[in-house]
Amino acid sequence: MILVTGGAGFIGSHACVELINAGYDVVVVDNLVNSHEKSLDRVRQITGKRPEFVKADVCDEKAMDAVFSKYDIDSVIHFAGLKAVGESVQKPLEYFSNNLDASMVLCKVMRKHGVHNLVFSSSATVYSGDNEMPLTESSKTGNCTNPYGWTKYMSEQIFKALCVADPDLSIVLLRYFNPVGAHESGLIGEDPQGIPNNLMPYVSQVAIGRRDHLTVFGDDYDTTDGTGVRDYIHVVDLAKAHVLAIQYASGHKGCEVFNIGTGKGSSVLDIVHAYEKACGKKIPYVVGPRRAGDLATVYADTQKANKVLGFKAQYDLERMCADSWRWQTMNPNGFGD
Ligand code: NAD
Ligand code: WQD
Repeated sequence: MILVTGGAGFIGSHACVELINAGYDVVVVDNLVNSHEKSLDRVRQITGKRPEFVKADVCDEKAMDAVFSKYDIDSVIHFAGLKAVGESVQKPLEYFSNNLDASMVLCKVMRKHGVHNLVFSSSATVYSGDNEMPLTESSKTGNCTNPYGWTKYMSEQIFKALCVADPDLSIVLLRYFNPVGAHESGLIGEDPQGIPNNLMPYVSQVAIGRRDHLTVFGDDYDTTDGTGVRDYIHVVDLAKAHVLAIQYASGHKGCEVFNIGTGKGSSVLDIVHAYEKACGKKIPYVVGPRRAGDLATVYADTQKANKVLGFKAQYDLERMCADSWRWQTMNPNGFGD
C-alpha cells in the first residue's frame, strides 16, 4: 500500500488517480488545511475506488504512528505542505514548522515501521536565480528568495543526509516546475482559496468571470514578448511521474533528484492566448510592475527523468488550458459548491 500525504490536494488527488489506475492501494493522510475531502469522492468517480482516508496532521507523530500500524505501507509519497510563496514571507515560522516537521516526523515514523521508500514533492524553486537555462539537476541550488523555497531546500538536505546515514533508504526528490491543468474528466483540479497566487488559476478565474482582469507582472523582461517564461507541466503528466518514481524507489537505494517539467518555456502571454483559445473568450489583462523575486525565464532540462525514470510529458499547453477550463466550468467555485 502507498501512503500519500497531502493526497486530497491538487497534485496529490491526481497522483491518487494514477496510482489506483496502476493497481496500487492508496491511503491518504491530509489535515485538509488547503483541500476538501470531496476530492477523494471524485477520485472514486474517476477510478471506481476511493483511497482510504485519515484526517490527520503529518506533524502529529502519534497519529502517523497509528496510520503506519493500521496499514501495510510499502512506500510513501509526501505532498503534504504549505505552498503559498507570499504567505510564507508573512508567516515564516508556520512554513518552517509545518513543512520541516512534516518531513522529519514522517521519516521518524517510517524508520520505526521499517518503511524505506519515499518520493518527495520538491520544487524548481530550490534552484539559485543565477543559473543558465535550462536547469539540470546539478545546477546551483540555494539563495532561495522566500521561506517556502527554503523549506523545500532544507527538506532536500534532510533527506540527503538520511540516505547517507541509512543505506537501506531510497528517496526520490522530484523538482516540479509549474504544474497546471486538471484531470480530463473535469472532476478534480486546482481549487485555490482566496486570490490565486499562480498564473493559470488566476487566468481561469478571469475567464469564468470571478475576476475582472489579469495583471501581467512585467513586460520588460529579456524574453520573446517581454513577459516571464516558465515550464508549465500538465498535472496528469506530473502525477504519472510519481508512479514511475515509486517504481524506481522500490528498485534502488540512496537519494536521487529529478526535474519534472516539459523542457519547454511559455510566456505569460502564451498562456493568455492558449487560454483564450480554450475558453473562446478574451482574457482582459493590464501590464503591472514586475513581481519581487521573479526571474525572466525558468525551464527544465528533462533528460535525466527521461533516461532514468522513462518519463516524458505528453500534454501540450493547449491541452493544459482545455482541461483547466473544463474543471473551472464544471466547478465554478471549486470543491466548495
Ligand atoms: P495543495 O495545497 O493542493 O496540497 C497540499 C496538501 O497538503 C493539501 O491537501 C493540504 O491540506 C495538505 N497539508 C498541508 N500541510 C499538512 C500537514 N501538516 N499534514 C497533513 N496535510 C497537510 O498543493 P499542491 O499544489 O497539490 O502541492 C503538493 C506539493 O507539491 C506541496 O508540497 C507543494 O509544495 C509541492 N509543489 C507544488 C507546486 C505547485 O505549483 N503546485 C510546485 C512545486 C512543488
Ligand atoms: C508564472 C508567471 C509571473 C501571476 C511559483 C512558485 C514556485 C512553484 C510554482 C511551488 C511568472 C506571472 C503570475 C499573475 C503574472 N511552486 N504572473 N500574473 O512564480 O513560476 O512559480 O509556482 O513550488 O515555487 O514560486 O509561478 O504561476 O506564480 O507565475 O503575470 O497574476 O506568471 O510573474 O512570470 P512561478 P506563477
